[in-house]
Amino acid sequence: MACYVFNSYRRLIHKGYLPKSLMAATGSSIPPGQTVKAAARKHNRGMKLLIFAGSTRLASFNRKLAQVAAGLARTSGAEVTHIELADFDIPMYNADLETQGTPADVMKLKQLMFEHPGWIICSPEYNGSYTALLKNTIDWVSSPVKADPAWQDGFKSFSGKVVGMLSASPGALGGLRSQSHLVPLLLNAQCWVAPKAFALGHAGEAFDADGQLVSEAHRKNVQAVIDQVLFASRRLHA
Ligand SMILES: Cc1cc2nc3c(=O)[nH]c(=O)nc-3n(C[C@H](O)[C@H](O)[C@H](O)COP(=O)(O)O)c2cc1C
Repeated sequence: MACYVFNSYRRLIHKGYLPKSLMAATGSSIPPGQTVKAAARKHNRGMKLLIFAGSTRLASFNRKLAQVAAGLARTSGAEVTHIELADFDIPMYNADLETQGTPADVMKLKQLMFEHPGWIICSPEYNGSYTALLKNTIDWVSSPVKADPAWQDGFKSFSGKVVGMLSASPGALGGLRSQSHLVPLLLNAQCWVAPKAFALGHAGEAFDADGQLVSEAHRKNVQAVIDQVLFASRRLHA
């Protein structure tokens, strides 16, 4: 049993799900009988992960995917903050409006994003790109608050964040093109984008009545993105 746990743990390290720094400690750091999942959970404990979707639609596939990701990340030991953008009262960006003061909910979101070293974004695809909701949210959050010395750097909330990309669409490509447009924007805002990403195609058939992913393969793909975000954000924000 101990040997099985040891080898599984090494496999996870080899795949990049757990840091190599644990390699030297394998055998001694896992108490006999502790499972790989328990070891990973312990390792991720306290890692703050922010999750949100770029849709406010009631039956949104991306909101469902965010819910699934939040559950998997919690099981992995992360401290998850799962937000709904609908809960933030943010108008369409307008510089004239901004001169009257940055909306309170934009300030709230700036702080929330700043406090989380890792993010998962579930991005719908509209016309081969990401949604206006995501763009508007990012534009507001990245805009410097001239009157507040603490927020004069517009990229303060973005800089150094590790972002994992998920998307879902009823189409075959699963919203992949929204990711390809969103990634350059995130890189421009000084984020690190996880190399692993997942696009859930045929999303209309992918969830059961409880909002869980039907396919184990899909769950594993989401988990792989989460693992990579937690791994990298732990490394970058140690
Ligand atoms: C204006 C608009 C444009 C769309 N363009 C695309 C597209 O380019 N590719 C695609 O796969 N789906 C496209 N769709 C369909 C969306 O993927 C679908 O509505 C999806 O359910 C939206 O995400 P949500 O379920 O998270 O709200 C589009 C939908 C709308 C309303």
